[in-house]
Amino acid sequence: MKYLLPTACACIAIIGFTAKPPDEPELRLVFTGDIRGYLSPCGCSKPQIGGVLRMAGVVRALKKQPNTVYADLGNWTMAAGRQDELKADALAEVFRSLDPDALNIGALDAKLGRDLLIALNESTNSRFISSNFAVGYENRIVMRDGALLTTIIGLMPDSEAERYGALRKTSRQAMASSNADILLFAGSFDEAKALIDETSYAGLVIFSQSGDPTNAPIQYKMATLVSPGDKGRFVGYIERKNGKWTNLRTISLGPEHFDDEDAHMAYHAYLERVSSEKLLEAIPRTNELGYVGSDACTSCHTDAHAIWIETKHANALETLEKTGNDRDPECVGCHVVGLNAISGFRSRTLTPSKADVGCESCHGPGDRHLSMPYEPYGKAGEASCLPCHNADHSPGFDFKTYWEKIKH
Ligand code: HEC
Ligand code: HEC
Ligand code: HEC
Ligand code: HEC
Repeated sequence: MKYLLPTACACIAIIGFTAKPPDEPELRLVFTGDIRGYLSPCGCSKPQIGGVLRMAGVVRALKKQPNTVYADLGNWTMAAGRQDELKADALAEVFRSLDPDALNIGALDAKLGRDLLIALNESTNSRFISSNFAVGYENRIVMRDGALLTTIIGLMPDSEAERYGALRKTSRQAMASSNADILLFAGSFDEAKALIDETSYAGLVIFSQSGDPTNAPIQYKMATLVSPGDKGRFVGYIERKNGKWTNLRTISLGPEHFDDEDAHMAYHAYLERVSSEKLLEAIPRTNELGYVGSDACTSCHTDAHAIWIETKHANALETLEKTGNDRDPECVGCHVVGLNAISGFRSRTLTPSKADVGCESCHGPGDRHLSMPYEPYGKAGEASCLPCHNADHSPGFDFKTYWEKIKH
């Protein structure tokens, strides 16, 4: 009891202190963009960065703050075929659950085609904006508690809108008739600067940039420019205080972030569709070389086999099975033997000894060697590793240290 009084006093003091008129921003903007099909984390080596599951979790948490607006710059996928259409559907599901204020349309989205774009717009509660491309609303006026918070405009480079035959009006005309203070511009830094030159725009520009995000706001004339980087690895956050854009944060989506539940469901529904539409079965097989499978080597190379079976290579397909990516054409090729060959991997049941990274992944197809074991065969070395251990999927690859772990 005797400690209660001083503690209570301390509390009041703290409340008194924090209740001082806070340095509240007028507006908080959360922004993403240029996911470019990277729904799962980019790259295969730890720590894996990105993925729409973590992205959604971070956006959802940031959005809880007052006066927060969330917008995406566009370029959801590479628009390169059926799998990207399925990805776009999954992303629409994720965005719908995040209830964004504006979803801009980039050239890669335009490439998906008008019909799909209209459907995606519907499934995201019509949040698409684009002032120079014919699908989607023009400006987005964002109100909170009856007060105007901000006006957002969305553009892609005019040349791209023209290319897809849907230039609504030029960017310059769109900017002239808008009072927007946030511009989502799915074009490069140089294209953004040219637009600022032409229009004397003085607000914030979110622009498109390959690689990492801008680590500080770039001031160009009266405008402020920032970019979320690409491949869905970062979530951007910036505040407006006294009319000035400040306090930029680019949050790297490392493993410390939790997966969002809604996004998890949308992603797994997508993988189900990839599997049920048999996209893996549909990949072209042009290679006519003869793969025989790792089991065929065991009888004569008992020692090599005994070492290989203990390496991670021998469980590479299981790795994909654990995450549900084992029927995903974007993953399986590097985790099995000869996916591009007629004689190569089909499925664990049909071709069990061609599952995983096997002997022939490095030594090459073994059919001739089985009948002519004394003919030259199977020279392997660093060059055998690089098709899979590339910069994206194995950035830390070093032949010496890696070979040491699997040598036989
Ligand atoms: C019928 C037995 C037999 C089978 C089955 C067999 N090999 Fe061989 N392998 C040999 C013999 C014998 C040599 C030649 C050894 C020599 O030249 O000294 C050899 C050589 C090799 C070499 C070259 C070694 C060197 O020193 O240059 C590699 C690599 C190799 N085999 C891999 C494989 C792979 C992979 C498979 C399965 C696709 C396989 N072998 C299946 C018998 C076999
Ligand atoms: C067909 C694609 C492919 C080829 C070729 C390949 N690898 Fe791998 N490698 C993988 C995959 C996939 C994994 C991850 C397996 C897992 O954890 O499920 C891996 C994992 C490894 C690991 C384990 C890394 C760790 O965390 O311990 C080592 C070591 C390795 N590879 C070395 C090599 C070397 C050396 C070569 C060339 C001589 C090579 N690999 C060739 C696909 C390949
Ligand atoms: C270009 C070849 C390639 C492709 C495509 C590929 N992987 Fe990998 N994967 C690798 C290699 C190589 C490793 C081992 C990396 C290392 O340890 O350096 C690996 C390792 C992994 C690991 C193990 C990471 C760990 O150590 O815990 C997972 C999980 C994984 N890949 C999942 C995937 C998924 C999911 C996809 C498709 C979205 C995919 N991979 C596509 C080559 C590839
Ligand atoms: C990740 C790639 C990789 C895989 C998988 C792999 N090897 Fe090798 N293997 C190599 C490399 C690299 C060498 C070394 C070549 C050298 O030293 O010239 C080698 C060497 C060999 C040799 C020659 C050993 C010696 O004494 O000179 C044989 C035989 C062999 N491998 C058989 C196999 C068999 C059988 C399997 C499957 C059970 C297998 N390898 C799996 C990459 C691989």
